[in-house]
Amino acid sequence: MKTIIVTGGAGFIGSNFVLYMLKKYDQYRIINLDKLTYAGNLENLKEVSDNKNYVFVHGDICDSELVDGLFQKYDVSYVINFAAESHVDRSITDPEIFVKTNVMGTSNLLNIAKKYWEKDGVFKEGVKFLQVSTDEVYGSLGATGYFMETTPLDPHSPYSASKTGGDLIVKAYADTYKMPVNITRCSNNYGPYQFPEKLIPLMINNALNKKSLPVYGDGKNIRDWLYVEDHCSAIDMVLHNGRLGEVYNIGGHNERENIQIVKTVIGYLNENVDSSVTEALIKYVEDRKGHDRRYGIDPEKIKNELGWYPETTFEVGIKKTIKWYLEHKEWMDNITSGEYQNYYKSMYEKEGK
Ligand code: NAD
Ligand code: DAU
Repeated sequence: MKTIIVTGGAGFIGSNFVLYMLKKYDQYRIINLDKLTYAGNLENLKEVSDNKNYVFVHGDICDSELVDGLFQKYDVSYVINFAAESHVDRSITDPEIFVKTNVMGTSNLLNIAKKYWEKDGVFKEGVKFLQVSTDEVYGSLGATGYFMETTPLDPHSPYSASKTGGDLIVKAYADTYKMPVNITRCSNNYGPYQFPEKLIPLMINNALNKKSLPVYGDGKNIRDWLYVEDHCSAIDMVLHNGRLGEVYNIGGHNERENIQIVKTVIGYLNENVDSSVTEALIKYVEDRKGHDRRYGIDPEKIKNELGWYPETTFEVGIKKTIKWYLEHKEWMDNITSGEYQNYYKSMYEKEGK
C-alpha cells in the first residue's frame, strides 16, 4: 500500500479528487491534510469518512512540525498539493494570507518531503511532488492564441502571483536538487462542491434565491471551463505517467464569455425550475481590479504525451452541475449561513456594486 498526502482535500477540487482516487484505487492510503478554512468542508467527504484507506488530518501546510510528523509516521510516496487560498477577489482585499499559504506553505511541504525522500543527494525511487497550479500564472490573452507550457509567466492578481511563487519554488527544487516533481496548470473548474464565491455556484445560488446576478464589467471576459472530474483524471494521469520535472497544462477548449455562462444558468433554471428566473436578475457591477480578459489553454502536450482528454462537454457538464446543486440544497444552505453572509455583504452589497 502506498501513501499519498493530498493537501487541501476538503476543498472543491481536492474533495472531488479524494473521492475519485478512493473509488478508483484500493492500493492507496490517502492522508487529507486540510486547515479547514472557510473553503474546507468535511461534508464533501462524508461518504468516505469510514473508508479504511482514508485519513483526515486537520492542520496547516505551513506547520513544519505537523508535516514532519506525517512523514515520520507514514512512508509517503506522493504529495499532491491542492491546498491554497484560491479566490482572486479575496486576494485583492487580503493578499498576505495568499503569500503565506500558496508560497510559504508550498515551500514547507517541499522542504520536508526532500528531507525524507533524499539520501546522499539522490531521491528515493517512485516518489513525486505534484503541484496543482493554474492557468492564471500565464496572465491574460488577447483575442487569439492559447497558453502553452512555454508561455512566459505573467501573473497579475495577488492570487496568481502567489501561485506563480509556489510554482517557481517547485521548479527550483527540481532544477537544484533533482527532486521528482510535476506542475499541472488547469483552467477554470466547475462541478459539485464548489464554494459559492466562484462564478457558477454563486449564480445558481443567487438565482434560486431571486437575488441579483452580479456580472463584473461588461461580462465579456473569457474563461476556459473544465468539468472537475476531468481535472481529477488529468492529475491521476500526470501522477502516474507524467515525465519528471515537466509542466502539463490541463484544459478542454471550452471558452465562454462570463455573460454566456450566466445566461446559460438562467435559461436552465427558467425552463426546469422556476419561470420567474429571468435575465432581469442580471446586474452589471463594478469590474474586478486588474481583471484578466481571457484565458485559453492549449492542452496538446498532455493529450499527445499522456493520452488524456476531457470526457465531459460543457453542455453536459453544466446541466449535471446545476442538477447537483438543486439536489444538494442543504449543502448550499449550510455553507451560505453564518460567515458567508458577511462575506457576501462586504463584496456585493457595498456602495457601487
Ligand atoms: P478551494 O478554495 O475550494 O479549497 C482549498 C482547500 O485548501 C480548502 O479545503 C482549504 O481549507 C484548504 N487550505 C487552505 N489553506 C490551507 C493551509 N494553509 N493548509 C492546509 N489546507 C489549507 O480551492 P479549489 O478551487 O479546490 O482549488 C484547489 C487547488 O487547485 C488550488 O491550488 C488552486 O490554485 C488550484 N486550481 C483551481 C482551479 C479552479 O478553477 N478552482 C483551477 C486551476 C487550479
Ligand atoms: O483559471 C483558473 C482559476 O479559476 C483558478 O486558479 C482560481 O482558483 C479560480 O477561482 C478561478 O479564478 P477566476 O477568477 O477565473 O474565477 P471566478 O469564478 O472568481 O470568476 C470567473 C469569472 O467570472 C471572472 O472573469 C470574474 C467573473 N465574475 C466572478 C464572480 C464571482 C463575475 O462576473 N461575477 C462574480 O460574481
